Amino acid sequence: MTNGMHRMNESTRELGSSALHLGPLGLGCWPLAGMTREGVDRETAVTTVEAALEAGILHLDTAYCYGEQGESETAIAAAMHRSGISRNRVVIAGKCGIHWERDASGSPPRRQCVDGRPERLRSEVEESLRRLATDRLDLLYLHAPDPQVPLAESAGELRRLRDEGKTRAVGVSNVKLHELEAFASECPLAACQMPFNMLQRDIERDILPWCRSHGVGVVAYWPLMKGLLAGRMGRSTTFPSSDSRHKYPLFNGDEFQRNLDFVEKLRPVARRLGCEVADVVLAWTAEQPGIAAVLFGATSPEQVHENAAAMDCTLDDEARRGITEAIAWRGPAAARVRH
Ligand SMILES: NC(=O)c1ccc[n+]([C@@H]2O[C@H](COP(=O)([O-])OP(=O)(O)OC[C@H]3O[C@@H](n4cnc5c(N)ncnc54)[C@H](OP(=O)(O)O)[C@@H]3O)[C@@H](O)[C@H]2O)c1
Repeated sequence: MTNGMHRMNESTRELGSSALHLGPLGLGCWPLAGMTREGVDRETAVTTVEAALEAGILHLDTAYCYGEQGESETAIAAAMHRSGISRNRVVIAGKCGIHWERDASGSPPRRQCVDGRPERLRSEVEESLRRLATDRLDLLYLHAPDPQVPLAESAGELRRLRDEGKTRAVGVSNVKLHELEAFASECPLAACQMPFNMLQRDIERDILPWCRSHGVGVVAYWPLMKGLLAGRMGRSTTFPSSDSRHKYPLFNGDEFQRNLDFVEKLRPVARRLGCEVADVVLAWTAEQPGIAAVLFGATSPEQVHENAAAMDCTLDDEARRGITEAIAWRGPAAARVRH
């Protein structure tokens, strides 16, 4: 860093105190499961992962529940196979502890279930490894604490899975501070994955400072606020019921319009730098203290190309001032719904 200028691609980051090294950007593979909106088929999913690998984004974030049948995990396996990339070059991060259930008839709607029992976590990891066609994960998160299961039991099972070599490092996601502390007392922790973006910064209160002082890397999800901060939505954008965004306050009514006003304030910042809005947003998110990596989702190779350019987007002090003013003008956006 010189004169307040920062290029994302100059930095490589060690994930907490683990031996894992991550680039600043990771591909979040949740939208590739085809469950967040229509139109993301298998071939789109595979080519989107391939585009990330080609762009040098070698951190792939997935989960047992990304797809009712692990569609995200199998797309990753197919893309890695097709690209011929060496397994050792890629950081595959998986999650266990959430699955989908349907009623006895098997008909929709499906229901998301949190289950942190050790035997369930183990069987999910084994299934994930089969779907991913690999013998180990690089990073394994508990997707969310299960209120019905003592956290020590879930954490203990992830520690055992790590000791057996099924993962190189362990993380936890969607936690409150006391849960983070409880988890870390049972299992060495490399990462904590939480929502974080320009307008949703709750973790700065407690989680981020705790992780910084305990050598745990924070991996940010939702950096683009589920696409809103990518700068491509218009005033009249609406979401069909098949698009999960229709139910979030962020995308409805006055809240949505104010979020779009916020994006308009980022546009001149991006223009002056010669970058896209999405790239400014990702570059800013990645440079926040304590953020080890930023996971963006994408539904096409084109989005991956656009977002990967964030690695060459140079923020300077004027850009940071413009962003800080825009954030202060907007104030925090509606919080997410907890699992
Ligand atoms: N631990 C957890 O509980 C948890 C929860 C959520 C997410 N995550 C992880 O974090 C990752 C990121 O979160 P996310 O995918 O939900 O949200 P996100 O990264 O904030 O937004 C991703 C969405 O934005 C749109 N988008 C991306 N790039 C774009 C571009 N250049 N131009 C226009 N639109 C663009 C795409 O949606 P459209 O094309 O449909 O508009 C894409 O699916 C996930 O994929 C997942 O790996 C973890």
